[in-house]
Amino acid sequence: MVFLQRNKKPSGAMKTRSLVSITDYTKEKILHILDLASQFEKNPNQDLLKGKIIATLFFEPSTRTRLSFETAVNRLGGRIIGFSDASTTSSSKGETLKDTITMVSNYADLIIMRHPLDGAARYASEVSAVPVINAGDGSNQHPTQTMLDLYSIKKTQGTLENLHITMVGDLKYGRTVHSLLMAMSHFNPSFTFIAPDELRLPDEYKQFCFENGIKYRELSELTDFADADILYMTRVQRERFLDLMEYEKVKNVYTLKNKMLDGTKPNLRVLHPLPRVNEIDTDVDDNEKAYYFQQARNGVYARQAVICDALNVQDKIN
Ligand code: CP
Repeated sequence: MVFLQRNKKPSGAMKTRSLVSITDYTKEKILHILDLASQFEKNPNQDLLKGKIIATLFFEPSTRTRLSFETAVNRLGGRIIGFSDASTTSSSKGETLKDTITMVSNYADLIIMRHPLDGAARYASEVSAVPVINAGDGSNQHPTQTMLDLYSIKKTQGTLENLHITMVGDLKYGRTVHSLLMAMSHFNPSFTFIAPDELRLPDEYKQFCFENGIKYRELSELTDFADADILYMTRVQRERFLDLMEYEKVKNVYTLKNKMLDGTKPNLRVLHPLPRVNEIDTDVDDNEKAYYFQQARNGVYARQAVICDALNVQDKIN
């Protein structure tokens, strides 16, 4: 089952408080959310969600996204209901996503959902009476990851403008890649896309680059990133392969090693949405250019900002 119109924006004022695709945010909104995130980094414990119930519905596994969302809610004084294993819910008895979302929107003020199907979050936002935040839908979008990626890029580079970003790995199924590419279109980026033939960036995103005047080149070897400001490594998404033999062929295609960072720009930072498997050797972890663990930490602040915007309580931030 595939949900159609996965990035089409809904109509109606209530629905617009949902965050389903990063294209739901204008450039101004992105910058506003980043500003809120920076306020939360300075002062993370604020009672802004007192009396609010937030539902986290994870139909797919997660460590960072779910726990950072739940940390964000707890630091803001809200309460959490939800599940991290859909096999314990009535969806395992055949309940439809529509019925599940309708039920949960009876109980909660906000729904945060991860789902394996592209477009599921948009569909949920259309049937929900409360805002929906997409915590990742299939290989389509992961907009809150993008907000923490942008926060991390701005924090390490001092700007989002005119940067060269080298994206490496699974550019076909990597939803974080797709969202980040679209968000960066506001900031005059250029890209190098490094992927094996099987995992190249889908044509729709190359068309997006073309339509937005974004320069890019495609490579298949992890050798040339001397001009990069950001090296965005990604995991090969095993769970998206229909044929695991195909996964076996590409699973270890690239491994970044510490020595390979010699001669790169002083401002270069290595990002990765995580989890990593073999694509970044642990010998990179102590390099000052490795930023992926701080990047994950920034997820709490970015998600605090996104939640407050969705619930329209940002005016109360200290
Ligand atoms: N980056 C990310 O989405 O990580 P999790 O799958 O652990 O949530």
